[in-house]
Amino acid sequence: MEKQTTDSLRRPLRDLRISVTDKCNFRCQYCMPAELFGSDYQFLPQDKLLRFEELTRLSGIFTSLGVEKIRITGGEPLLRRDLPRLISMLHEVEGVRDIAMTTNGSLLAKHAQALKQAGLGRVTVSLDSLDNARFKQINARGYQVETVLEGIEAAAAAGLPVKINMVVQKGVNEQDILPMARYFRNKGHILRFIEYMDVGNSNGWRLDQVIPSRQIVQMIDAEMPLEPVDPNYYGEVATRYRYRGTGAEIGLISSVTQAFCATCTRARLSAEGKLYTCLFASTGVDLREPLREGATDRELRELITGIWRERADRYSEERLQNTDGLTKRKKVEMSHIGG
Ligand code: GTP
Ligand code: 5AD
Ligand code: SF4
Ligand code: SF4
Repeated sequence: MEKQTTDSLRRPLRDLRISVTDKCNFRCQYCMPAELFGSDYQFLPQDKLLRFEELTRLSGIFTSLGVEKIRITGGEPLLRRDLPRLISMLHEVEGVRDIAMTTNGSLLAKHAQALKQAGLGRVTVSLDSLDNARFKQINARGYQVETVLEGIEAAAAAGLPVKINMVVQKGVNEQDILPMARYFRNKGHILRFIEYMDVGNSNGWRLDQVIPSRQIVQMIDAEMPLEPVDPNYYGEVATRYRYRGTGAEIGLISSVTQAFCATCTRARLSAEGKLYTCLFASTGVDLREPLREGATDRELRELITGIWRERADRYSEERLQNTDGLTKRKKVEMSHIGG
């Protein structure tokens, strides 16, 4: 069986990011603004979502093409009923080395133990502020910081390594950078600062809302000295730094100022079963219909291999050269394919 499927820029296929629902209980302005995702918004009906059996079968095909790591995303993945059952099914798939999940943390305290038992390897929790008033404004649904922190601690107590993702936006939460760094340094969880990106079509992104990672490093280093750390693996998204003299570290995800498309090994599957080869793609290829129309494993493998071989996506690198032109292009919504 072919293990090295590479695309037109010679990038291997290594990661599969599976969105299990397009719903979320938060309405972060940069992802699902409440004006656009209101009570009349049509989310996907149940029968359009890929079933756990379908996701498991596809995951087996992806691992036969070189995928080793699976990340469960959404929307908010914990809104999908019975999620631990999916995790345990994926855990049985040959070739899956790492199963991670990205969540907003609001329901994590309730599910952490079951997820760990099912075989989840680690979680990444999104949290943009420790200030309750600001956090409520960001999630636009009145959720408290405390709820997310309880989720984080429940995950850690269940034995799940935890990372925290903070999207940094100028004028919104830059004052939270240092408090977040201090807090998670003491807790021993890896905090990653993400440059605000122009994902989806609705966040009205502008380059001047981005705080370059380099500035964040300088700001933290001035108070808590940092030293660089080598990447954990080929194509790691985050650049790592350690607090000098400690084992605690942070990560910087600089997709705007230092694009990392050259080593991008990620395929994304939407909740309705479309395969996207870039976070900023306009279209995906439907796998649900062939799955439900009785395609064989071999046919599905050939379909996916063909898509990956043709892949030439390098949106973030292109954006560096042509900011205005590109950001207006129609793109898939982040809530459909996860981060
Ligand atoms: P690890 O497996 O722990 O290394 O996680 P990861 O950094 O690969 O995954 P995570 O979902 O935590 O990614 C963090 C954030 O980085 C996402 O929420 C996105 O904002 C951004 N990101 C991840 N992958 C890509 C990508 O392929 N392209 C771009 N432009 N941004 C990405
Ligand atoms: N820019 C950067 N990161 C984003 N995320 C959502 N929207 C954006 C954006 N516009 C992050 C979330 C979460 C992950 C799913 O993606 O905060 O960590
Ligand atoms: Fe916010 Fe994540 Fe929900 Fe989007 S999916 S609205 S970023 S919590
Ligand atoms: Fe990969 Fe597209 Fe992100 Fe570049 S912009 S790193 S190609 S997902």
